[in-house]
Amino acid sequence: GMDSMPGMDSGHAGHDMGAMAQAPAALPEGEALRELPLLANEAGRSGLFRARLTAEAATARFVEGQDTPILTYNGTSPGPLIAAYEGDRVEITFANRIEGEQSTVHWHGMPVPADQDGNPMDPVAAGADRVYAFELPGGSAGSYWYHPHPHGRTSEQVYRGLAGAFVVKAKADPIPAAYGDTALMFTDLRLAADGSMPDNTMTDLMNGRVGDHVLVNGQKNPKLAVALGAKRRLRLYNATNARFLRLAFANAAMTVIGSDGGLLEAPVAIDEILLSPAERVELVVAFDKPGAATLTTLDYDRGWMGPGRPSDAGLTLLTVDVANTPAEAMPPVPERLRPIAPLGQPAVSRRLVFTETMAMNPTGMEMGFLINGKAFDMARVDIVARAGETELWEIVNQADMDHPFHLHGTQFQVIEHERDGKVSKPPYLAWKDTVNVARGETVRLVTRQERPGARMYHCHILEHEQLGMMGIVDVQA
Ligand code: C2O
Ligand code: CU
Ligand code: CU
Repeated sequence: GMDSMPGMDSGHAGHDMGAMAQAPAALPEGEALRELPLLANEAGRSGLFRARLTAEAATARFVEGQDTPILTYNGTSPGPLIAAYEGDRVEITFANRIEGEQSTVHWHGMPVPADQDGNPMDPVAAGADRVYAFELPGGSAGSYWYHPHPHGRTSEQVYRGLAGAFVVKAKADPIPAAYGDTALMFTDLRLAADGSMPDNTMTDLMNGRVGDHVLVNGQKNPKLAVALGAKRRLRLYNATNARFLRLAFANAAMTVIGSDGGLLEAPVAIDEILLSPAERVELVVAFDKPGAATLTTLDYDRGWMGPGRPSDAGLTLLTVDVANTPAEAMPPVPERLRPIAPLGQPAVSRRLVFTETMAMNPTGMEMGFLINGKAFDMARVDIVARAGETELWEIVNQADMDHPFHLHGTQFQVIEHERDGKVSKPPYLAWKDTVNVARGETVRLVTRQERPGARMYHCHILEHEQLGMMGIVDVQA
């Protein structure tokens, strides 16, 4: 079971502590929020989305006078927003121009064929191009994203800047257009005093990499101006490697309208929401009080190995300036959004036990992030499933940290959480592809893969995924 960890000897641990002690650089705040740039459709006709996505190195200026080497899609980080419609065919030519590194593009949460899903088994070599092609079926409208998934390089390629939003729009959308539609992609930046992005430390590998700055669309605490009484549709993306975002909006009212895989059945008013790494939520936020409305973080203890758990309380991620002048009256959020059919009775059930193991040996620390006692092996099939068959997956977290569970290729429905013998139901039915499994908790979900092929499932703390907390379900026709 345990994986040997290169570079985890005590020498590196000492260096690790030095890097941690460095004061984080200050970043400018309060710039006007930039909407994510839209990826232009080159097809020139409806029903087809065709474009080119190039991963390449660039430099960013987070701090005046300092160049930070980053990775970009089409020159930007986060990458361009891809917006396409249900029913569209998508053909995206990916050009890997990352020097000396293979990469892939994984379409997180989307129902794409297994051989188009950017699996680690299908790398795109440095300098090579490949076309990803798939259709967006009816009912697939939702807030998805894309990011690299190469074997052993995902964590680094993502924290260096590679992630982008992919919004699938419904042909008939019940949410009033007057609300607008803004994607807010949260990423996590660690910046050394010299402007560089430090490598992962031992602490990062154990806990997941938590940076110094949570950015929204690449900016720290940007500003958005709205009229009094305005409602805005916001799609929140946790695209950080490992940061749990427990979010609240001061001076504004939040209503959840959608989850990872699209709209809920009905809107749900909330005071706060926990977004674990890779989760998304669609909100309507009503700004009914003049002044500043701020999106802030509350502390959340997701479990931490070793000293120095960073507190996330009180970060301001976004400041909304609500004017004194009222907006034209905005229509209310519709009472019904869309039906969600329960997946129904499972034919098969699976149990996946997540554990962490830690041991010292003469060559250093050995650490394992395991599912059912095993570390990921690209050549091994862990589960054989059948296309079209509903399954119950029971995710058991016996570890000391929360692990956000993610399954490729489909959306699932969480049916219950169990902790200390107490069973609770989620507050609403939702399509999800990522769900946090808190330490000591068991999450039960139902899922169905419609297409054959190899699908990954893993912890979406990317350092854990990389260290073995991943498996393969082979879906057979
Ligand atoms: Cu978002 Cu397998 O990942
Ligand atoms: Cu995924
Ligand atoms: Cu994990």
